[in-house]
Amino acid sequence: MTVNIFELMELAKAKPNAISLGLGDPDFATPEHIVAAAKAAIDDGRTGPVEPTGLLELRQAIGRKLARDNGVLVDPQSEVLVTTGGQEALFLLVQALIEPGDEIIVPDPRYTSYDDAILLAGGRMVLAPTDEAHAFELDPDEVEARITPRTKLLLLISPNNPTGGINRPETVRRLAEIAQERDLIVIADEIYEKFVYDGAQHLSIGSLPGMRERTITLNGMSKTYAMTGWRIGYLAAPAGFIRAAASLKQMVNIQAPTVSQWASVAALDGPQDCVEEMRRAYATRRAYLMEALSDLGFSFGTPWGGLYIWANVSSCGIDAVELSYRLLQEEDVLILPGVGFGERWKDYVRITLLQPLEQLELVVERLGRVVERYAVRK
Ligand SMILES: Cc1ncc(COP(=O)(O)O)c(C=O)c1O
Repeated sequence: MTVNIFELMELAKAKPNAISLGLGDPDFATPEHIVAAAKAAIDDGRTGPVEPTGLLELRQAIGRKLARDNGVLVDPQSEVLVTTGGQEALFLLVQALIEPGDEIIVPDPRYTSYDDAILLAGGRMVLAPTDEAHAFELDPDEVEARITPRTKLLLLISPNNPTGGINRPETVRRLAEIAQERDLIVIADEIYEKFVYDGAQHLSIGSLPGMRERTITLNGMSKTYAMTGWRIGYLAAPAGFIRAAASLKQMVNIQAPTVSQWASVAALDGPQDCVEEMRRAYATRRAYLMEALSDLGFSFGTPWGGLYIWANVSSCGIDAVELSYRLLQEEDVLILPGVGFGERWKDYVRITLLQPLEQLELVVERLGRVVERYAVRK
C-alpha cells in the first residue's frame, strides 16, 4: 500500500471524531482564574484597543515572569512585543530579521512553520542534525561546523517539537559561546519550557552573560496555560528587534486581542499550581506511552521535555505514513507521520501526550492491533 501525507490529511478531515493525537493543542480546559479574568475584562468594558506592542500591564507581567522564571531581564516599555500567538511571533521575527540570502541554522527536525517563514523571507535554512541516540539534543559542534560568513541566526527550540529533545544547560552555555564568538543572533523558542520531566532542566540562553543583546526569546500562553485558542504569544528582545517586528505587526493586525491579553495577565501573575498539575499529568501519560510503545517495538530518544513522543516505528517494518493511515482508517486514531516534519523522518511518527490516560490506553490497544495485522518484524 502506498499512501502519502495528503491522503492521510484528507482522511483526517473525514474523521472528525477520531481520537486525536495529532495537533499540539492541550486537552485541558483553560484554568478558571484565567477565564474569570477574561470575563471581568468584558464586564468592565476593558475591550478597546491597546498599544500595538501590547497592553502595558501584560508587557509588565511578561517582564516579571521572564525575570522570575528565566533570569531574562527586559524593559517592558521597549523590549517586549505581545503577538497573536507564538505563531505570529515567529513569522514577524523571521520577516523582520532575514534578508534574502541570509543563512539560519535550524535543528532538524523542528516545528516547520519556521521553514515557511524563512523561505518566504528569502532566507536559507541550514539544518543541524539531531538524532535518537542523543535524545535529539542539538550538538554545538554540528552547529559550529555549519557557520559561514552568511550565517546570521541560530534557532533553538527547547524543548523541541516534534522530538521532545532539550538542550541541557552545558549545551546551552556552549551554544552561547559560539553565538558570541561568531556574532550570531539567537532565537530561543521556549514555548514548551514548563514541560520537562524526570529532573531535566530548562536554561534560557538569554539569561547568560553577553547574550541579552543578541537573543530573542519567544514564548506564549497556548501550551503553558492551555490557551491555544486565546492566541497570545510574545517576543522579548533588544528594542531594535522589537521595533522592527512591531511595525510589521501593525500592518498585519494592529494588536493582539485585548480580552485575551487581560486573561494572560492573570495567567502570568496568578497562581502557577495549574501549570504543575498539567505537567504532572503529562509526565504520567509520557511514562505510560514510553513503556507501551517500547512494548510494541517502537524506539525513541528519551523525550526529556515537550508534549510529544517522536517514535521510530521502523522495527515493525511498516512505513510510518502507512501505519498512520491504517490507524486512522481502521481504528479511528490520528497520529502524525514524521515526513510532515522533514523528508528524512520517514521512519518516525509524532504522538502527542494530549489525551487523558484512558484514551491513551485505547490508542495503544488500537495501535497494537494495526501492528499485529501488518507488521513485518525486522
Ligand atoms: C515550537 C513551537 N513554536 C511556536 C508554536 C506556536 O504556538 P502558538 O501560536 O499557539 O503560540 C508552536 C505550536 O505548536 C510550536 O510547537
